[in-house]
Amino acid sequence: MRKPAVRIESDSMGTIEVPAERLWGAQTQRSLEHFAIGSDRMPTAVELAARYRAVRALTERLREPLSAEDCQAQSMPDASPAKWHLAHTTWFFETFVLEPGRRGYQPFHSAFRVLFNSYYQGVGEQHPRPQRGLLTRPSLDEVLAYRAHVDAYVLDWLAGDDAPVGALASVVEIGLHHEQQHQELLLTDAKHLLSGNPLAPAYAALPPAPPAAGRAFGWRMVDGGVREVGATTDGFAFDNERPRHAALLEPFALSTRLTTNAEYAEFIADGGYRRPELWLSDGWSTILTRGWQAPLYWDDRDGQWCEFTLGGRRPLDPLAPVSHVSLYEADAFATWAGARLPTELEWEAVATGRPVRGNLLDSGHLHPIAAAANGTDVAQLYGDVWEWTRSAYAPYPGFRPLAGALGEYNGKFMSSQVVLRGGSCATPADHVRASYRNFFPPDARWQFSGIRLAKDA
Ligand SMILES: [Fe+2]
Repeated sequence: MRKPAVRIESDSMGTIEVPAERLWGAQTQRSLEHFAIGSDRMPTAVELAARYRAVRALTERLREPLSAEDCQAQSMPDASPAKWHLAHTTWFFETFVLEPGRRGYQPFHSAFRVLFNSYYQGVGEQHPRPQRGLLTRPSLDEVLAYRAHVDAYVLDWLAGDDAPVGALASVVEIGLHHEQQHQELLLTDAKHLLSGNPLAPAYAALPPAPPAAGRAFGWRMVDGGVREVGATTDGFAFDNERPRHAALLEPFALSTRLTTNAEYAEFIADGGYRRPELWLSDGWSTILTRGWQAPLYWDDRDGQWCEFTLGGRRPLDPLAPVSHVSLYEADAFATWAGARLPTELEWEAVATGRPVRGNLLDSGHLHPIAAAANGTDVAQLYGDVWEWTRSAYAPYPGFRPLAGALGEYNGKFMSSQVVLRGGSCATPADHVRASYRNFFPPDARWQFSGIRLAKDA
Protein backbone atom coordinates (compact mmCIF):
# COMPACT_ATOMS: atom_id res chain seq x y z
CA MET A 1 0.00 0.00 0.00
CA ARG A 2 1.30 3.43 -0.88
CA LYS A 3 2.14 5.39 2.23
CA PRO A 4 0.67 8.90 2.58
CA ALA A 5 3.00 11.76 1.76
CA VAL A 6 3.40 15.27 3.09
CA ARG A 7 3.38 17.94 0.41
CA ILE A 8 5.91 20.67 0.96
CA GLU A 9 5.36 23.67 -1.30
CA SER A 10 8.50 25.22 -2.66
CA ASP A 11 8.83 28.20 -4.99
CA SER A 12 12.04 26.96 -6.49
CA MET A 13 11.34 23.25 -6.72
CA GLY A 14 7.59 23.02 -6.95
CA THR A 15 5.82 20.56 -4.71
CA ILE A 16 7.96 17.99 -2.93
CA GLU A 17 6.31 14.89 -1.59
CA VAL A 18 7.92 13.39 1.48
CA PRO A 19 6.78 9.99 2.79
CA ALA A 20 4.86 10.80 5.91
CA GLU A 21 6.41 8.12 8.04
CA ARG A 22 9.81 9.68 7.47
CA LEU A 23 8.58 12.83 9.10
CA TRP A 24 6.36 11.75 11.92
CA GLY A 25 5.14 8.23 11.34
CA ALA A 26 2.00 7.26 9.54
CA GLN A 27 -0.40 9.61 11.28
CA THR A 28 0.45 12.54 9.08
CA GLN A 29 -2.73 14.49 9.28
CA ARG A 30 -2.82 14.28 13.01
CA SER A 31 0.82 15.38 13.18
CA LEU A 32 0.25 18.49 11.16
CA GLU A 33 -2.76 19.38 13.24
CA HIS A 34 -0.78 18.74 16.32
CA PHE A 35 2.05 21.07 15.38
CA ALA A 36 -0.56 23.69 14.63
CA ILE A 37 -2.09 23.11 18.07
CA GLY A 38 1.33 23.69 19.59
CA SER A 39 1.62 27.39 18.89
CA ASP A 40 -0.21 30.19 17.16
CA ARG A 41 3.02 32.00 16.48
CA MET A 42 5.64 30.54 14.15
CA PRO A 43 9.05 32.15 13.74
CA THR A 44 9.96 33.29 10.23
CA ALA A 45 12.83 31.64 8.36
CA VAL A 46 14.99 34.69 9.09
CA GLU A 47 14.26 34.44 12.80
CA LEU A 48 14.89 30.70 12.77
CA ALA A 49 18.22 31.16 11.00
CA ALA A 50 19.39 33.76 13.50
CA ARG A 51 18.37 31.57 16.39
CA TYR A 52 19.92 28.50 14.77
CA ARG A 53 23.27 30.28 14.41
CA ALA A 54 23.22 31.54 18.00
CA VAL A 55 22.24 28.23 19.60
CA ARG A 56 24.66 26.13 17.59
CA ALA A 57 27.52 28.55 18.26
CA LEU A 58 26.84 28.56 22.00
CA THR A 59 27.08 24.76 22.15
CA GLU A 60 30.53 24.96 20.61
CA ARG A 61 31.62 27.76 22.95
CA LEU A 62 30.51 25.67 25.94
CA ARG A 63 32.66 22.82 24.62
CA GLU A 64 35.78 24.92 24.17
CA PRO A 65 37.11 24.71 27.76
CA LEU A 66 37.14 20.91 27.39
CA SER A 67 40.04 19.04 25.82
CA ALA A 68 39.47 16.30 23.25
CA GLU A 69 40.15 13.81 26.07
CA ASP A 70 37.54 15.50 28.29
CA CYS A 71 35.05 15.32 25.42
CA GLN A 72 35.59 11.58 24.99
CA ALA A 73 35.05 10.19 28.48
CA GLN A 74 31.74 9.06 29.97
CA SER A 75 31.60 9.09 33.77
CA MET A 76 28.37 7.09 34.23
CA PRO A 77 25.51 5.71 32.11
CA ASP A 78 23.30 8.74 32.87
CA ALA A 79 25.92 11.16 31.59
CA SER A 80 27.15 11.40 28.02
CA PRO A 81 30.49 12.48 26.61
CA ALA A 82 30.57 16.07 25.35
CA LYS A 83 31.49 14.72 21.92
CA TRP A 84 28.30 12.65 21.89
CA HIS A 85 26.21 15.72 22.80
CA LEU A 86 27.81 17.64 19.92
CA ALA A 87 26.99 14.84 17.50
CA HIS A 88 23.54 13.88 18.81
CA THR A 89 22.18 17.44 18.59
CA THR A 90 23.39 17.50 14.98
CA TRP A 91 21.86 14.09 14.32
CA PHE A 92 18.53 15.55 15.43
CA PHE A 93 18.55 18.15 12.62
CA GLU A 94 19.84 15.64 10.11
CA THR A 95 17.25 12.99 11.02
CA PHE A 96 14.16 15.08 11.63
CA VAL A 97 14.71 18.07 9.33
CA LEU A 98 17.17 17.46 6.49
CA GLU A 99 16.57 13.81 5.63
CA PRO A 100 12.78 14.04 5.41
CA GLY A 101 12.54 17.58 4.10
CA ARG A 102 15.59 18.65 2.11
CA ARG A 103 15.54 17.27 -1.41
CA GLY A 104 18.76 15.51 -2.33
CA TYR A 105 20.27 15.63 1.16
CA GLN A 106 22.74 12.84 1.77
CA PRO A 107 23.57 11.91 5.38
CA PHE A 108 27.08 12.85 6.44
CA HIS A 109 27.80 9.24 7.44
CA SER A 110 25.33 6.36 7.28
CA ALA A 111 26.51 4.87 10.61
CA PHE A 112 25.71 8.05 12.54
CA ARG A 113 22.00 7.24 12.33
CA VAL A 114 22.55 4.53 14.94
CA LEU A 115 25.57 5.94 16.82
CA PHE A 116 23.89 9.21 17.73
CA ASN A 117 20.28 8.13 18.10
CA SER A 118 19.47 8.56 21.79
CA TYR A 119 16.18 6.77 22.36
CA TYR A 120 14.00 7.09 19.26
CA GLN A 121 12.75 3.59 18.52
CA GLY A 122 10.81 5.04 15.62
CA VAL A 123 14.07 5.99 13.93
CA GLY A 124 15.68 2.59 14.46
CA GLU A 125 18.51 1.07 16.45
CA GLN A 126 20.55 2.96 19.03
CA HIS A 127 24.11 2.55 20.21
CA PRO A 128 23.87 1.46 23.90
CA ARG A 129 23.79 4.48 26.16
CA PRO A 130 26.34 3.21 28.74
CA GLN A 131 28.83 2.68 25.89
CA ARG A 132 28.81 6.15 24.40
CA GLY A 133 32.23 6.78 25.91
CA LEU A 134 33.65 3.90 23.88
CA LEU A 135 33.03 5.73 20.61
CA THR A 136 36.61 6.88 20.10
CA ARG A 137 35.73 7.11 16.40
CA PRO A 138 34.52 9.38 14.91
CA SER A 139 37.08 11.77 16.37
CA LEU A 140 36.15 15.11 17.88
CA ASP A 141 37.35 16.83 14.69
CA GLU A 142 35.10 14.60 12.61
CA VAL A 143 32.15 15.40 14.85
CA LEU A 144 32.86 19.12 14.49
CA ALA A 145 32.99 18.61 10.71
CA TYR A 146 29.62 16.82 10.96
CA ARG A 147 28.22 19.87 12.73
CA ALA A 148 29.59 22.21 10.07
CA HIS A 149 28.14 20.02 7.31
CA VAL A 150 24.64 19.98 8.79
CA ASP A 151 24.82 23.68 9.69
CA ALA A 152 25.67 24.58 6.10
CA TYR A 153 22.67 22.64 4.78
CA VAL A 154 20.21 23.95 7.34
CA LEU A 155 21.31 27.58 6.99
CA ASP A 156 21.37 27.37 3.21
CA TRP A 157 17.86 26.01 3.30
CA LEU A 158 16.63 28.66 5.73
CA ALA A 159 18.09 31.38 3.50
CA GLY A 160 16.49 30.12 0.30
CA ASP A 161 13.14 30.69 -1.33
CA ASP A 162 12.09 27.18 -0.33
CA ALA A 163 12.81 27.66 3.39
CA PRO A 164 10.96 25.17 5.57
CA VAL A 165 7.56 26.36 6.67
CA GLY A 166 4.79 25.02 8.86
CA ALA A 167 5.43 21.65 10.42
CA LEU A 168 9.00 21.40 9.21
CA ALA A 169 9.85 24.85 10.60
CA SER A 170 8.34 23.66 13.90
CA VAL A 171 10.76 20.76 13.90
CA VAL A 172 13.70 23.16 13.43
CA GLU A 173 12.40 25.07 16.45
CA ILE A 174 12.09 21.87 18.49
CA GLY A 175 15.64 20.98 17.43
CA LEU A 176 16.93 24.27 18.83
CA HIS A 177 15.18 23.78 22.18
CA HIS A 178 16.46 20.21 22.17
CA GLU A 179 20.00 21.51 21.67
CA GLN A 180 19.57 23.92 24.58
CA GLN A 181 18.65 20.98 26.80
CA HIS A 182 21.86 19.33 25.72
CA GLN A 183 23.85 22.50 26.45
CA GLU A 184 22.81 22.10 30.06
CA LEU A 185 23.59 18.38 30.00
CA LEU A 186 26.99 19.06 28.45
CA LEU A 187 27.85 21.19 31.49
CA THR A 188 26.40 18.91 34.15
CA ASP A 189 27.94 15.83 32.54
CA ALA A 190 31.32 17.58 32.31
CA LYS A 191 31.02 18.53 35.98
CA HIS A 192 30.33 14.94 36.93
CA LEU A 193 33.28 13.76 34.87
CA LEU A 194 35.74 16.31 36.25
CA SER A 195 34.55 15.69 39.83
CA GLY A 196 35.80 12.13 39.55
CA ASN A 197 39.36 13.27 38.88
CA PRO A 198 41.52 13.48 42.05
CA LEU A 199 43.07 16.63 40.60
CA ALA A 200 39.63 18.31 40.89
CA PRO A 201 40.16 20.19 37.64
CA ALA A 202 38.06 23.25 36.87
CA TYR A 203 35.94 23.41 33.74
CA ALA A 204 36.62 27.15 33.74
CA ALA A 205 37.59 29.96 36.08
CA LEU A 206 34.25 31.08 37.48
CA PRO A 207 33.52 34.72 38.34
CA PRO A 208 33.37 35.48 42.07
CA ALA A 209 29.86 35.22 43.47
CA PRO A 210 28.33 38.65 44.12
CA PRO A 211 28.61 39.61 47.79
CA ALA A 212 25.39 38.85 49.62
CA ALA A 213 24.34 39.31 53.21
CA GLY A 214 21.78 36.54 52.96
CA ARG A 215 18.06 36.85 52.62
CA ALA A 216 15.79 36.19 55.55
CA PHE A 217 13.55 33.17 55.17
CA GLY A 218 9.94 34.04 54.49
CA TRP A 219 6.66 32.66 53.22
CA ARG A 220 4.49 34.00 50.42
CA MET A 221 0.85 33.15 51.09
CA VAL A 222 -1.18 32.24 48.01
CA ASP A 223 -4.96 32.06 47.83
CA GLY A 224 -6.63 28.92 46.61
CA GLY A 225 -8.96 28.75 43.64
CA VAL A 226 -9.22 27.50 40.10
CA ARG A 227 -6.16 28.45 38.02
CA GLU A 228 -5.29 28.05 34.38
CA VAL A 229 -2.02 26.14 34.11
CA GLY A 230 0.09 24.83 31.25
CA ALA A 231 1.45 26.57 28.18
CA THR A 232 -0.67 29.00 26.21
CA THR A 233 -0.50 28.76 22.42
CA ASP A 234 1.52 31.98 22.25
CA GLY A 235 5.02 30.79 21.45
CA PHE A 236 7.01 27.61 21.72
CA ALA A 237 6.37 24.97 24.35
CA PHE A 238 6.99 21.24 24.48
CA ASP A 239 4.04 18.89 24.12
CA ASN A 240 4.21 17.94 27.80
CA GLU A 241 3.28 21.53 28.81
CA ARG A 242 -0.03 21.31 27.00
CA PRO A 243 -2.93 21.50 26.88
CA ARG A 244 -3.55 24.47 29.12
CA HIS A 245 -6.20 23.44 31.61
CA ALA A 246 -7.91 24.38 34.81
CA ALA A 247 -6.61 23.12 38.14
CA LEU A 248 -7.89 23.57 41.66
CA LEU A 249 -5.37 24.87 44.17
CA GLU A 250 -5.91 24.88 47.90
CA PRO A 251 -4.44 27.88 49.75
CA PHE A 252 -0.72 27.37 50.31
CA ALA A 253 2.51 29.15 51.14
CA LEU A 254 5.74 29.09 49.16
CA SER A 255 9.12 29.98 50.63
CA THR A 256 10.45 33.27 49.29
CA ARG A 257 13.90 31.87 48.59
CA LEU A 258 15.66 28.57 48.00
CA THR A 259 17.00 26.41 50.81
CA THR A 260 20.60 27.38 51.52
CA ASN A 261 23.72 25.29 52.06
CA ALA A 262 23.81 26.44 55.69
CA GLU A 263 20.26 25.20 56.29
CA TYR A 264 21.04 21.90 54.64
CA ALA A 265 24.24 21.54 56.70
CA GLU A 266 22.09 22.03 59.81
CA PHE A 267 19.86 19.15 58.67
CA ILE A 268 22.96 16.96 58.30
CA ALA A 269 24.32 18.03 61.68
CA ASP A 270 20.96 17.19 63.25
CA GLY A 271 21.34 13.59 62.07
CA GLY A 272 19.24 14.06 58.94
CA TYR A 273 20.86 11.14 57.15
CA ARG A 274 20.53 8.86 60.21
CA ARG A 275 16.83 9.33 60.99
CA PRO A 276 14.60 6.99 59.00
CA GLU A 277 11.43 8.77 60.17
CA LEU A 278 12.35 11.70 57.91
CA TRP A 279 12.68 9.67 54.75
CA LEU A 280 10.48 8.16 52.09
CA SER A 281 10.96 4.38 52.15
CA ASP A 282 12.72 4.36 48.76
CA GLY A 283 14.82 7.30 49.88
CA TRP A 284 15.96 5.60 53.05
CA SER A 285 17.00 2.45 51.21
CA THR A 286 18.73 4.55 48.57
CA ILE A 287 20.89 6.48 51.04
CA LEU A 288 21.79 3.26 52.86
CA THR A 289 22.65 1.38 49.69
CA ARG A 290 24.69 4.19 48.18
CA GLY A 291 26.20 5.51 51.38
CA TRP A 292 24.94 9.05 50.85
CA GLN A 293 25.59 11.38 53.77
CA ALA A 294 25.56 14.76 52.01
CA PRO A 295 24.70 16.25 48.62
CA LEU A 296 26.68 15.07 45.62
CA TYR A 297 29.96 17.04 45.37
CA TRP A 298 30.08 17.91 49.10
CA ASP A 299 33.25 16.92 50.80
CA ASP A 300 34.01 17.22 54.53
CA ARG A 301 37.63 18.45 54.86
CA ASP A 302 38.66 18.60 58.51
CA GLY A 303 35.22 19.74 59.62
CA GLN A 304 34.87 22.26 56.81
CA TRP A 305 32.40 21.52 54.02
CA CYS A 306 33.82 21.98 50.54
CA GLU A 307 32.08 21.36 47.25
CA PHE A 308 33.22 20.58 43.75
CA THR A 309 32.05 23.20 41.27
CA LEU A 310 32.63 23.86 37.59
CA GLY A 311 35.35 26.19 38.92
CA GLY A 312 37.01 23.37 40.87
CA ARG A 313 36.76 22.54 44.57
CA ARG A 314 36.02 25.41 46.92
CA PRO A 315 34.64 26.04 50.41
CA LEU A 316 30.88 25.82 50.62
CA ASP A 317 29.11 29.18 50.43
CA PRO A 318 26.65 28.94 53.34
CA LEU A 319 24.21 31.44 51.79
CA ALA A 320 24.09 29.89 48.32
CA PRO A 321 21.27 27.49 47.48
CA VAL A 322 21.94 23.83 48.21
CA SER A 323 22.35 21.93 44.97
CA HIS A 324 22.78 18.40 43.64
CA VAL A 325 20.28 16.78 45.96
CA SER A 326 17.89 14.02 44.96
CA LEU A 327 14.14 14.22 45.42
CA TYR A 328 14.61 11.91 48.41
CA GLU A 329 16.98 14.35 50.10
CA ALA A 330 14.80 17.34 49.22
CA ASP A 331 11.77 15.60 50.69
CA ALA A 332 13.58 14.50 53.86
CA PHE A 333 14.86 18.04 54.38
CA ALA A 334 11.34 19.43 53.96
CA THR A 335 9.98 16.95 56.50
CA TRP A 336 12.75 17.85 58.94
CA ALA A 337 11.93 21.54 58.43
CA GLY A 338 8.24 20.95 59.21
CA ALA A 339 7.23 21.76 55.65
CA ARG A 340 6.81 19.99 52.32
CA LEU A 341 7.82 20.41 48.70
CA PRO A 342 5.46 22.35 46.42
CA THR A 343 3.40 20.72 43.73
CA GLU A 344 4.33 21.72 40.22
CA LEU A 345 1.06 23.60 39.83
CA GLU A 346 1.66 25.60 43.02
CA TRP A 347 5.06 26.55 41.66
CA GLU A 348 3.59 27.54 38.30
CA ALA A 349 0.82 29.59 39.90
CA VAL A 350 3.45 31.75 41.60
CA ALA A 351 5.78 31.94 38.58
CA THR A 352 3.12 32.82 36.00
CA GLY A 353 3.37 36.41 34.85
CA ARG A 354 6.80 37.00 36.33
CA PRO A 355 9.73 37.75 34.03
CA VAL A 356 12.22 34.95 33.42
CA ARG A 357 15.09 36.51 35.30
CA GLY A 358 17.69 35.00 37.57
CA ASN A 359 21.01 33.21 37.72
CA LEU A 360 20.61 31.30 34.46
CA LEU A 361 23.34 30.18 32.07
CA ASP A 362 23.55 33.67 30.57
CA SER A 363 24.73 35.15 33.89
CA GLY A 364 27.98 33.20 33.53
CA HIS A 365 28.18 32.13 37.18
CA LEU A 366 27.72 28.44 36.32
CA HIS A 367 26.96 27.91 39.99
CA PRO A 368 24.05 28.78 42.29
CA ILE A 369 24.47 32.09 44.11
CA ALA A 370 22.90 33.57 47.25
CA ALA A 371 19.67 35.53 46.93
CA ALA A 372 19.98 39.29 47.26
CA ALA A 373 19.38 40.34 50.85
CA ASN A 374 16.88 43.08 50.11
CA GLY A 375 13.24 42.52 49.24
CA THR A 376 10.52 40.29 50.54
CA ASP A 377 9.09 39.05 47.23
CA VAL A 378 9.65 35.52 46.01
CA ALA A 379 13.24 35.26 44.75
CA GLN A 380 15.22 32.73 42.71
CA LEU A 381 12.18 31.26 40.95
CA TYR A 382 14.23 31.04 37.79
CA GLY A 383 17.81 29.88 37.66
CA ASP A 384 20.26 28.71 40.33
CA VAL A 385 18.76 25.23 40.76
CA TRP A 386 15.92 23.20 39.32
CA GLU A 387 13.39 22.98 42.12
CA TRP A 388 12.11 19.54 43.01
CA THR A 389 8.35 19.40 43.22
CA ARG A 390 6.23 16.69 44.80
CA SER A 391 4.47 16.09 41.46
CA ALA A 392 4.84 12.87 39.54
CA TYR A 393 5.65 13.52 35.89
CA ALA A 394 2.31 12.64 34.30
CA PRO A 395 0.31 13.76 31.29
CA TYR A 396 -1.95 16.78 31.63
CA PRO A 397 -5.65 16.13 30.96
CA GLY A 398 -6.03 15.83 27.20
CA PHE A 399 -2.28 15.42 26.57
CA ARG A 400 -1.36 14.18 23.13
CA PRO A 401 2.25 13.48 22.27
CA LEU A 402 3.54 14.51 18.86
CA ALA A 403 2.80 11.66 16.49
CA GLY A 404 5.53 9.42 15.08
CA ALA A 405 9.12 9.29 16.27
CA LEU A 406 9.10 12.81 17.74
CA GLY A 407 6.25 11.69 19.99
CA GLU A 408 8.93 9.78 21.90
CA TYR A 409 10.52 13.07 22.99
CA ASN A 410 8.57 13.47 26.25
CA GLY A 411 5.50 11.28 26.54
CA LYS A 412 7.13 7.90 26.93
CA PHE A 413 8.98 9.01 30.06
CA MET A 414 5.81 9.68 32.00
CA SER A 415 6.35 7.03 34.65
CA SER A 416 8.52 6.89 37.78
CA GLN A 417 9.87 10.43 37.29
CA VAL A 418 9.30 13.64 39.20
CA VAL A 419 8.83 17.19 37.89
CA LEU A 420 11.33 19.96 38.56
CA ARG A 421 10.66 23.61 37.78
CA GLY A 422 12.44 26.89 37.14
CA GLY A 423 15.73 26.16 35.38
CA SER A 424 19.23 26.29 36.80
CA CYS A 425 22.48 28.19 36.45
CA ALA A 426 23.15 25.96 33.42
CA THR A 427 19.82 26.63 31.66
CA PRO A 428 19.76 29.17 28.81
CA ALA A 429 17.43 32.04 29.76
CA ASP A 430 15.42 31.83 26.55
CA HIS A 431 14.80 28.14 27.07
CA VAL A 432 12.78 28.09 30.28
CA ARG A 433 9.33 29.50 31.14
CA ALA A 434 6.63 29.27 33.80
CA SER A 435 5.03 26.20 32.22
CA TYR A 436 8.33 24.34 31.58
CA ARG A 437 8.37 20.83 33.03
CA ASN A 438 11.73 19.19 33.60
CA PHE A 439 11.72 15.65 34.94
CA PHE A 440 14.18 13.23 36.49
CA PRO A 441 14.01 10.01 38.50
CA PRO A 442 13.85 10.65 42.26
CA ASP A 443 17.42 9.45 42.86
CA ALA A 444 19.02 11.71 40.22
CA ARG A 445 21.30 14.38 41.60
CA TRP A 446 23.91 15.23 39.02
CA GLN A 447 21.77 18.08 37.72
CA PHE A 448 21.71 21.42 39.53
CA SER A 449 18.68 20.36 41.60
CA GLY A 450 17.65 22.02 44.85
CA ILE A 451 14.90 22.78 47.30
CA ARG A 452 12.13 25.33 47.76
CA LEU A 453 9.77 24.68 50.63
CA ALA A 454 6.01 24.94 50.67
CA LYS A 455 3.32 24.39 53.27
CA ASP A 456 -0.42 24.22 53.54
CA ALA A 457 -1.96 27.55 54.46
FE1 LIG B 1 18.47 14.46 22.93
